[in-house]
Amino acid sequence: MDEYTSERLAGALDTRRIGRRLRWYRTLPSTNDVAMRLADLGEPEGVVIVAEEQTAGRGRLGRAWASPRGGVWLSVILRPGLAVSQVPLVGLATAVAAARAIGESTGLAARVKWPNDVLVRGAKVVGILSETGSGAAWVVLGVGINANVPRVLLPKETGYPVTSLAECSGGPVDRVGLVRTLLCEIEKAYDALQDEGAGPVLTAWRELSETIGRVVRVHGATREFEGLATDVDADGALLVRLPDGRVERVVAGEVTVRGRG
Ligand code: BTN
Repeated sequence: MDEYTSERLAGALDTRRIGRRLRWYRTLPSTNDVAMRLADLGEPEGVVIVAEEQTAGRGRLGRAWASPRGGVWLSVILRPGLAVSQVPLVGLATAVAAARAIGESTGLAARVKWPNDVLVRGAKVVGILSETGSGAAWVVLGVGINANVPRVLLPKETGYPVTSLAECSGGPVDRVGLVRTLLCEIEKAYDALQDEGAGPVLTAWRELSETIGRVVRVHGATREFEGLATDVDADGALLVRLPDGRVERVVAGEVTVRGRG
């Protein structure tokens, strides 16, 4: 196992804000739970919670997230000052940042799948859980990367393929370098979102997208439908054109990719 410690992580960072205050734990139920509690208590933007292992990692849509040793499991506290409708852009920005960080630190070509997944060779390596509180006064971004997680400990493939960076690279990746690059890219993408608005994030997300131009099945809370994913709008919602030409705006739920449009 690589040396993935608080000291090595703190020493490696070259961000201005994000991760300057970093709390590292050997084991936690969920880094998002700790970060949300701290955000509620007024902890400032940029605080990062990292765990070597989570015993109750949480995923989107109420799912569990397998988080054994060897992965990167962290949460970032942000105070973006965005309208609630625009908060999904922070998740999109983070997916772009994670894809770039994977490219820079491993050389693997990573792509994004709506809303926040990152894929390598068509299989999921990163999941992002963004949670808000106090009327979107804070956003906690939980990032899970299957870095050096052995295949036997990855979740069983239910509906979508899952992989790890180690599996794709043919050997373990340097997690300290990966976290350093990830936090740097999150800071860049977040600064761009704040200074220039949604434009650069949406452009970058479209360029990396594995979803746009594909026929997708949308699994919403109350209904399912299929159509062609044509774009994301200014708030990060997915636009899906139905066979009758109507366009549906998808803000939540799961999307599975069926084929090319
Ligand atoms: C998904 O369902 O794709 C999102 C998974 C998010 C997992 C990360 S790991 C760090 C943080 N803590 C959690 O409990 N979940 C997120």
